[in-house]
Amino acid sequence: MKRISTIAAMKAACRQVTAAGKTLGLVPTMGALHEGHLSLVRAGKARCNVTAVSIFVNPLQFGPTEDLDKYPRNLERDAAMLEQLGVEFLFIPSVEEMYPPGAKTYVVVEGLSDKLDGASRPGHFRGVATVVTKLFETVRPDYAFFGQKDAAQVAVLRKLVRDLDMDVELVVCPIAREVDGLAMSSRNVYLTPEQRKQALVLHRALMRVQLAADGGEKDSEKLRHAGMQVIAEEPGARLDYFAIVDPDTLDPVTDIVQGALVAVAAYFGATRLIDNIALAPR
Ligand code: PAJ
Repeated sequence: MKRISTIAAMKAACRQVTAAGKTLGLVPTMGALHEGHLSLVRAGKARCNVTAVSIFVNPLQFGPTEDLDKYPRNLERDAAMLEQLGVEFLFIPSVEEMYPPGAKTYVVVEGLSDKLDGASRPGHFRGVATVVTKLFETVRPDYAFFGQKDAAQVAVLRKLVRDLDMDVELVVCPIAREVDGLAMSSRNVYLTPEQRKQALVLHRALMRVQLAADGGEKDSEKLRHAGMQVIAEEPGARLDYFAIVDPDTLDPVTDIVQGALVAVAAYFGATRLIDNIALAPR
């Protein structure tokens, strides 16, 4: 596995792959890799001739009071896992490399960037869309792999690719979970053992909604209240949002007949966790 830390060197390596007629996959990450990230890497390896992974803790997508400084970083551990999976390129630019002094251009997906996580984290999706655009232009991948775990991020990036006519196919991979249902996240390491137990309420609430929907309930407000009720029963959880929305527009839907995204975010102590399920069309 080749470690590359400059944009120029990454471009050169990637252009060689493309010029040789090989397909190139990109898995963008912020590191502190877990099985969720690795499932994207495996999908990349399965579909592409050459797989690149980026590890970059993107300051632009963190708010001023968020966890940028304490975000878990463990490059050597991450690199060993990626090496094991046969990743060809590991792109690890510095903050100065990605955002040299004076950089002033941002990518904003209007109408989506202020919904769900974007509503609670102003500027977050501007940071995500900007860094992903830069990564796409550096790598020019044929395929880019993202997790359903961040469903609003997927909606923003799908729209970005469509609106800017980008030549990349987004591949969305299912949520990897711990055996007890907790969605894997780099932020789970922040949880105390007590909060780790409390956090299971997210999955439980989503399962309650799934059960009610399976039982024939179609009314979004009723389903939402059933889910919120479960969250309310866990005093350790502070709800941020519980939403039933169209997965593309992220706008609330009144019923789930056409299918819907059920998304939840809550704080456990200072740690904000998200989870979601997709309800199939009736
Ligand atoms: P990060 O949180 O490191 O996640 C990298 C990728 O892994 C994202 O596409 C995310 O959805 C996926 N992922 C995380 N947990 C997952 C899980 N439990 N199951 C499946 N996939 C999972 O998302 C980001 O980084 C950043 O916003 C990034 C896209 C890299 C831009 O900075």
